[in-house]
Amino acid sequence: MTQDEAKALVGKRAAEMVESGMRVGLGTGSTSVAFIKALGARVQAEGLKIRCVASSDSSTELGRSLGMDVVTLEELPELDLYIDGADEVAISPNGEFYLIKGGGAALLREKIVASAAEKFICVVDQSKMVPKLGKFPLPVEIIKMARPLVERRLADLGLNPVLRRKKDDSGPVLTDEQNYLLDCHCGVIEDPEETAAEIRSIVGVVEHGLFLGMASKVLIAGENGVEEREA
Ligand code: A5P
Repeated sequence: MTQDEAKALVGKRAAEMVESGMRVGLGTGSTSVAFIKALGARVQAEGLKIRCVASSDSSTELGRSLGMDVVTLEELPELDLYIDGADEVAISPNGEFYLIKGGGAALLREKIVASAAEKFICVVDQSKMVPKLGKFPLPVEIIKMARPLVERRLADLGLNPVLRRKKDDSGPVLTDEQNYLLDCHCGVIEDPEETAAEIRSIVGVVEHGLFLGMASKVLIAGENGVEEREA
């Protein structure tokens, strides 16, 4: 199975978990795109009655283009379910899911929408499962003017921050909230709770991509189909 096939499979499985009447948070990234497309197909084919809030402008546009009712968090402040991908998933010593998110630059809105939901189900392919977080660079969203200060503080913590630039190198990536991203090449993160607290204490940091204990279930697509794991 290719990675794209795995994403399509897990996206479809997640879409099957949505019931009519639910208030649903839509994630961001390629696995979430697979989920949103599968959910949109159900809305069209079955007339599923759902209302949604998306974690990025791109997911909002995709959902609406598929005929889904995508509104703002102000209009729909409480959600039943949030479904989103991750860049890495590890299991903490006490059985919680530890995630790195933000590879698609949407971590701030993702954390906000996930926090508004009663349940967060994470959808990944097998390649995202790791024993410990940190191979994938940890994204940190920062206020633009604070960049020199935050970069120095993150470097002092040994986290090796690198400003994320656009693919064509025409300038820094801006998030949907018009902030910069620093990707921290920290290597294995031995204590994610401590790292999260250290990063959060830096003035100018808006949010970081460590999602600790937020997802209650992870759907993992692999050669044998989709495995479900509960926290
Ligand atoms: C978006 O900012 C991210 O958190 C994505 O959810 C994450 O990068 C996973 O993306 P893919 O599903 O494209 O791998």
